Amino acid sequence: MSERLAVITGANRGIGRATAAGLARAGFETVLWCRTPEQAEAAVVDLEERSRLDRFSPMAGDLADPDAIRDGVGRLRARYQQIHLLVNNAGVVANEYREAPDGHELTLAVNHLAPVRLTLGLLPSLLVSRGARIVTLASAAHDKAFDPSRLKGPAGFRGRKAYTQSKLLNFLFTFDLAERLEGSGVSANVVHPGVVSTGLLQDFVGGGALGAPVRALMGTVGSSPDKGARTTLRVATDPILTGVTGRYFRGRQEATPPDAALDREARDQARRWTAELTGLDWAEVVSRTLDAPR
Ligand SMILES: NC(=O)c1ccc[n+]([C@@H]2O[C@H](COP(=O)([O-])OP(=O)(O)OC[C@H]3O[C@@H](n4cnc5c(N)ncnc54)[C@H](OP(=O)(O)O)[C@@H]3O)[C@@H](O)[C@H]2O)c1
Repeated sequence: MSERLAVITGANRGIGRATAAGLARAGFETVLWCRTPEQAEAAVVDLEERSRLDRFSPMAGDLADPDAIRDGVGRLRARYQQIHLLVNNAGVVANEYREAPDGHELTLAVNHLAPVRLTLGLLPSLLVSRGARIVTLASAAHDKAFDPSRLKGPAGFRGRKAYTQSKLLNFLFTFDLAERLEGSGVSANVVHPGVVSTGLLQDFVGGGALGAPVRALMGTVGSSPDKGARTTLRVATDPILTGVTGRYFRGRQEATPPDAALDREARDQARRWTAELTGLDWAEVVSRTLDAPR
């Protein structure tokens, strides 16, 4: 087994699959968290063939489902004492209003609530791993202000608005988390992977009135998933970035974060609002986890 362990969500296709291959090449034993056991097993076979490396393990759980996340976190913590890298990569653009098993809108559940639950759940295993890193896929397509009314539905629901709001929430959570973890040895950063030709891009651009023709066109523009994986891979592995935390990267370089992400009042609002939805106040959980004996 390799010395360092990575967990990456949404690893069966798109940017996640390319990132998982890169992590294994960088020496990580890489856990592929996919929606179903069948997808996870198939992803292991696929990535072993593509990379000619035997460094992948399957993990399954629907990230829209809090029970499935709790169960997966429990299995990971039982199986691995240390986790050196968590990549919150999975994402979705639901163009119609759909509810996750706990009743929250699907895009919000997968893109924001799942990274919060997963990160907090795995925090004890990250804290005991020297120099552990958390990398979360946000997007340049994010809202400029925190406004949870954009996530409401089903009346007037717009999938793209829910997506851009969920991506701002990725910034708000990660930057707040990074500050709370300062001095713990665990870093937390966000990346924009570029415009990448994937299913998600088709759903994002083609979700409007023009529908299918635009979706088909979007299959032909955008960069490759391999190129899209480069920024995540750099933030996850570059030794120069050891200890660098609370930053935003795009095009493999550090970038200026959006003003909204630096807005402390918005971070606090997002934290309190997320706690109302999930029963998890990330400030309390981080503080409790930091105080717990290790
Ligand atoms: N593509 C771009 O241009 C772009 C730009 C900016 C940011 N990003 C971000 O990059 C990340 C990866 O996106 P991508 O473009 O690679 O998308 P993608 O090819 O559509 O892949 C999305 C991945 O997320 C998984 N996923 C979605 N819902 C899930 C759920 N409920 N449970 C478990 N897994 C779930 C999918 O699994 P299934 O196969 O089971 O659906 C798939 O593996 C996202 O966070 C996205 O917001 C992408």
